[in-house]
Amino acid sequence: MTFAPLVQMNDGRSIPVIGFGVWQVPDDVVIDATVKALEVGYRHIDTACVYENERGVGEALRRSGLDRDEVFITTKVWNTDQGYEQTLRAFDTSVGLLGIDEVDLYLVHWPTPARDLYLETWQALIRLREEGRARSIGVSNFHESHLRRIIDETGVIPAMNQIELHPWLPQTHLRDVDARLGIKTEAWSPLGSGQLIDDSVIGEIAAKHGKSSAQVMIRWSLQLGNIVLPKSVTPARIEQNIDVFDFELDDADMAAIATLESGRRTGPNPDEFNMA
Ligand code: A2P
Repeated sequence: MTFAPLVQMNDGRSIPVIGFGVWQVPDDVVIDATVKALEVGYRHIDTACVYENERGVGEALRRSGLDRDEVFITTKVWNTDQGYEQTLRAFDTSVGLLGIDEVDLYLVHWPTPARDLYLETWQALIRLREEGRARSIGVSNFHESHLRRIIDETGVIPAMNQIELHPWLPQTHLRDVDARLGIKTEAWSPLGSGQLIDDSVIGEIAAKHGKSSAQVMIRWSLQLGNIVLPKSVTPARIEQNIDVFDFELDDADMAAIATLESGRRTGPNPDEFNMA
């Protein structure tokens, strides 16, 4: 069993630096995968309304036998639920499916700038935090302009910005913006949606440390200061992806991985993604 260390967010709460990602995992599959993750030491699960597996995540939490407060649970408001009242209703639906009263972290999933509702959505999250129903609040896929707008308008700085981040897209600028604002950065698709597993540069570093390519990418992201959200439904990989605290990448390894930057995304560009 491996436990990920905790880091503190700007609201004083702590979050484990590795979270179990469940994007694209169907509700029936997510139960076994999440129970496995909790068995091998994960204490942080990252779901979302649009993943349609909040019910399964909640069921896994109960089956694990762990106390509710032993596990950090993140979920997110989907694009079509944006707006003040809609967000409050979407939150009620999410906690109902999860079978919990409070979430540890509630995020605005995408800014969807053309719809221009993310400010009202953020105001609803502020209310949920004031009510104690969302213990921490943050955003996902926000660029600097989106962050500055919600902070300027409300004075409330998100605790988190969850963004696509892997060796092709190390997000140097946005990580720096987050850090200067006191926002923690979470990395989604840390393995490039699995597409970077066969990369030869990463493979060589993995061989040198006697670790897998996935473990090297997770370690690289942790060493950049990120909270990392690897996704897997395969038991051995679930176990492997949290077993990253017994080795360290050196400067040469970090520099070699830095050469892989290409700007390539595996998901949409947040400036252009406005769809449901
Ligand atoms: P699977 O879920 O079938 O195990 P990302 O976290 O970047 O989105 O990547 C997720 C993809 O990477 C999934 O296809 C997942 O496959 C695969 N994956 C996750 N962990 C590993 C690992 N340790 N080794 C190889 N592939 C992995």
